Amino acid sequence: MMLPSTVPVTLLFADGVSQRLTVPIGTMLIEAATGAGLTLLTDCANGKCGTCTAQLVSGSVDLEDFDSAVLTDADRAGGAVLPCVCRVTAACAMEFPYDSSEAMSEEPPPLPATVTAVEQVATEIMRLELQVSDDVIFEPGQYVRIRPVGSKISRSYSMANVPGVNRLEFFIRLVPGGEFSQWLGAARAGDLLELSTPHGSFFLRDEDRPRLFVAGGTGIAPFLSMLRAMASQPPKQRTTLLIGARTPGHLLAMKELSELRAKITGLAIEVAIEQGAETGCHTGYATDLIHSLDLDSATRVYLCGPPPMVEAGRKAAESAGLKRADVLCERFT
Ligand SMILES: Cc1cc2nc3c(=O)[nH]c(=O)nc-3n(C[C@H](O)[C@H](O)[C@H](O)COP(=O)(O)OP(=O)(O)OC[C@H]3O[C@@H](n4cnc5c(N)ncnc54)[C@H](O)[C@@H]3O)c2cc1C
Ligand code: FES
Repeated sequence: MMLPSTVPVTLLFADGVSQRLTVPIGTMLIEAATGAGLTLLTDCANGKCGTCTAQLVSGSVDLEDFDSAVLTDADRAGGAVLPCVCRVTAACAMEFPYDSSEAMSEEPPPLPATVTAVEQVATEIMRLELQVSDDVIFEPGQYVRIRPVGSKISRSYSMANVPGVNRLEFFIRLVPGGEFSQWLGAARAGDLLELSTPHGSFFLRDEDRPRLFVAGGTGIAPFLSMLRAMASQPPKQRTTLLIGARTPGHLLAMKELSELRAKITGLAIEVAIEQGAETGCHTGYATDLIHSLDLDSATRVYLCGPPPMVEAGRKAAESAGLKRADVLCERFT
């Protein structure tokens, strides 16, 4: 019997649109999608960040190398896959957590931006403010890729500002030896950059259920955008924000966060510090605090920060009885 040389691959998007591709066996899924005019959401493109995570709903694929902290055995058993490292070996169908319009639209030309401020705001953390010509529309929690003009370095950063303004704010940790970090350390007002359009499925869902936000380090950035947006909306539900930092000096935007707590009914904030915790702060990790919260089983969890923190948060949320599907993750790799 002749084995088939091509197989059908069905891509299902969050808006209900599906695309059926005929793919030669052995092709990387991303290449097959690109060949069909689809741009699947990716960031690292090598199985290290989890940005591309999708759900296999039927059939099978082979996964090339990936970080097992990003896609655990339990994730795989539940059907999660990383399309950036998927090789098509059999007929399959895969669900993506974003609309088909995001995959089908051509990437628009980069948006020119100018540095208007760059300053150190906490230990190892810089605040970068950029001016663009038009207001940028996005969902609170999304990110853009930033590339200094004349450089090949392009990295993803979450916006901390509210949507619909032309001044964008970022909080960026200086990573020793990091390429973008080195550029940022020497950046000045007036420097020119290029931005991608906003991306990402880690955004604030408009729903009535309670929310748990867990931020590690600069992982607070997308939550600042969400909370700033929530401050102008009528309160709907209880929101708990757990903030983790290495030392008190690594905390950022605390004054504004306490003002937001006063403005947003039902917002509670707790802080965990690894070394040198002050009175009123937990000593240890933000994710340690999850088990002590009286969480409603309908809580939607948002985790953002370094991959080990995100993984610890997922485990703690599951131990607290929350569903894996109700946990949204953004890993700052
Ligand atoms: C969706 C998303 C949103 C993000 N948002 C934010 C945000 O809001 N704020 C934030 O701070 N970060 C964010 N990040 C992380 C950010 O994109 C970068 O990964 C981070 O800033 C490091 O970039 P870099 O160029 O400075 O480091 P890289 O050059 O990418 O280096 C990363 C690591 O590799 C090491 N390294 C580099 N070169 C070498 C070498 N030659 N040999 C050995 N080791 C080496 C570095 O020391 C460093 O530890 C986000 C990531 C994602 C995926
Ligand atoms: S884009 Fe697939 S894991 Fe990073």
